[in-house]
Amino acid sequence: MAAVRSRRGGSRLLPAALAAVAVFLVMRFTSSTQCQLEHATAVGGGSRSSAWPLGSSWFPGSQPLPSMTQRCGDKVDEERFKAYTAYHPSIHGWMADQHPGVLKALTELQHEKCIVGSVGEIGTHHGRFFFALAATAAPDEKLLAIDLYEDQGKNIDASGGTDTSKRTEFKKHAHALGWPEGAITILSADSTTLTPANYTTHGFPAFRLFSVDGGHAYETTLSDMELAARIMHKGGIVIVDDFVNNAWLGVLDGVVTFTRTTKTGYVPFLWTCTKIYFCHRSHHEMYLDFVRTKYDCTSSSSLRPPSYSIGGVQLCVVDPKQCTWSGLQ
Ligand SMILES: C[S@@+](CC[C@H](N)C(=O)[O-])C[C@H]1O[C@@H](n2cnc3c(N)ncnc32)[C@H](O)[C@@H]1O
Repeated sequence: MAAVRSRRGGSRLLPAALAAVAVFLVMRFTSSTQCQLEHATAVGGGSRSSAWPLGSSWFPGSQPLPSMTQRCGDKVDEERFKAYTAYHPSIHGWMADQHPGVLKALTELQHEKCIVGSVGEIGTHHGRFFFALAATAAPDEKLLAIDLYEDQGKNIDASGGTDTSKRTEFKKHAHALGWPEGAITILSADSTTLTPANYTTHGFPAFRLFSVDGGHAYETTLSDMELAARIMHKGGIVIVDDFVNNAWLGVLDGVVTFTRTTKTGYVPFLWTCTKIYFCHRSHHEMYLDFVRTKYDCTSSSSLRPPSYSIGGVQLCVVDPKQCTWSGLQ
């Protein structure tokens, strides 16, 4: 196995390592499905935000969020996007340099296909990836940033570190990037306590892009993915970070379990530079075909077989050697 770049104190696994871990996961899957809901409920605590009424930690059968009025052909603001790509290495955080381009390309496809909606992230830290998501948004697509911020006592696995300057740093970068006060809703909350109703109550239309990068424990990952998949526009994309990072096996475990058990219809279509991209089954062919035209999905020389399925669904796997990491990490 080739050595790969270290991050957050851990090294990355190459695709070949998935095979070994998969054996463990299959064994775990057969014995743990029943207790996932109990875990998810147990992890949830209170929230610092009094504005967001908190219900139960799980949400079977929740209603889809309302969608924005459909329109087609919005353009990404090139100036804003360029400003972000020049600036992002000075934001402390974890993101390969390739992701802003991936988000932009996918946004252009979404807007061409009349998919509009909110944009958000669980686990913004100082905003490195969040501001990439935000840079793709149309002026009326709402922006939501969720983190524990000062409430680091609830960061059970210390993911992203436990510094309490996260909100201050996030706001500093928002200001530097020209986001006016109030343009971004900043929510301090334990993500595992949120339900889809929280988003509806506070006027967020169904999401077009949503990043899951909060707590990295198995239960948190699974809970956050289930929540995300339930607040999406039918053509929306959920992006999960640290798949695969051997420092954070809870994410690997959570993602694989989600893929094999979720009732939301969300399936993976792209794995690149430690982020895995999911869409609804109804849009899988469209997104997979698109990324196959954009990226070399057969570049991963260590992948056996060269085209792979997770949970019976094909996805594009980009060779991690194509990823570069610059700036503060
Ligand atoms: C790995 S960092 C996120 C990195 C960030 N996305 C970036 O672009 O650099 C993880 C973040 O998740 C937050 N977090 C951890 N557990 C959480 C929870 N249960 N709810 C909300 N945020 C959580 C942490 O405070 C931390 O800022």
